[in-house]
Amino acid sequence: MDNFQFNTPVTVIFRSGSSRDPETYKNLIQAGRTLLVTDPTLQRFGVVDKVRIAMENAGADVLVYNEVEPEPNAATVRNVAEIAKGENVKQVVGLGGGSSMDIAKLAALMIPCPQPVELMYGVGKAKGKRLPLILIPTTAGTGSEGTHVAVVTGDDGEKSPIVGPQFICDLVILDAELTLTLPSGVTAATGIDAMVHSIEAYTSGFRKNPVSDQLAIKAFKLLFGNIRTAVMQEENIEARGNMLVGSMMAGLAFANATVGAIHALAYPLGTQFHLSHGESNSVVFAPVMRFNLPEAVTLYANLSREILPECLDVDNMDAAERLIEEMDRLIPEIGLKDRLSDYGIEKKSLNTLADGALKQERILSYNIRTMDRKDILNVYKSVF
Ligand SMILES: [Fe+2]
Repeated sequence: MDNFQFNTPVTVIFRSGSSRDPETYKNLIQAGRTLLVTDPTLQRFGVVDKVRIAMENAGADVLVYNEVEPEPNAATVRNVAEIAKGENVKQVVGLGGGSSMDIAKLAALMIPCPQPVELMYGVGKAKGKRLPLILIPTTAGTGSEGTHVAVVTGDDGEKSPIVGPQFICDLVILDAELTLTLPSGVTAATGIDAMVHSIEAYTSGFRKNPVSDQLAIKAFKLLFGNIRTAVMQEENIEARGNMLVGSMMAGLAFANATVGAIHALAYPLGTQFHLSHGESNSVVFAPVMRFNLPEAVTLYANLSREILPECLDVDNMDAAERLIEEMDRLIPEIGLKDRLSDYGIEKKSLNTLADGALKQERILSYNIRTMDRKDILNVYKSVF
């Protein structure tokens, strides 16, 4: 077995209603200000107040920052760090989807250790020790609560992941109640993102290990087994909980392995055409798998046999192809679009998209099969 290192948050609490229960925060909140980083929608729906009141009842003095936007910019990180300055903030809580959790991660580091955001882009460039950090996801998708990655859109408009051990949080609170109000389109898109994390972690060409593999397999089974129910029956708390746990496990898996070309090809769809991260992933999901097939046959076959009993007795290639067909079928079935033209993207944009994907050099280098510009263009063409 190859040497490996596995990093994980210290504590995970999975309990419905836990985020609005003061008991959850007792002994975890330190005296002094708590910065709660979140977004305007959760504020409007009353979710932020419930969490804030529970924290206050547990003895916290809460300062709310509720201006995190989808696909947050570097400017938002600077803004939140500026607002927190002089507030004697002792800990940071991120409440929301990946955007709020990622901004919370960066705030927790930048409050005690101010540094220019743009110098943190990449792996291991962020310096210093962060404040205590609690993450509470309200979508089952990014898995950011389990990862050491924070993604911001740089001043140049490119997605810029910031990777460092400081961004692994101390406490994750998984409360399925928080995901009950999600519109079905968001449940579907974020759920696909999580499924992509599990598949890319399991088939990663770099750093995958026995622990990340087991997490990826279990995550994939949970996500595949519950995504349709979670989308069709919004109030199904069991399916919501399973999605939330699956999403975190997929986050842990890819944080300790990597993502790959599906993410590299999805990013420019977000930055250039403002598709959500889950929508972007959905469009290129099956076509990139198809490209990876020659290198990933055995791994895809393993996953296929986990979810499709009829594949137990077929050969690896058949089982792997059935897995890709199943993903092809799933995307429209849960209401997601699977063609670039469905989003109004024109053929003349394919070259710019390919250039954008090529900028994700690091993620592309982790892909199980080497991908050049022509290959990338072919994938985009196949889903036009
Ligand atoms: Fe993702």
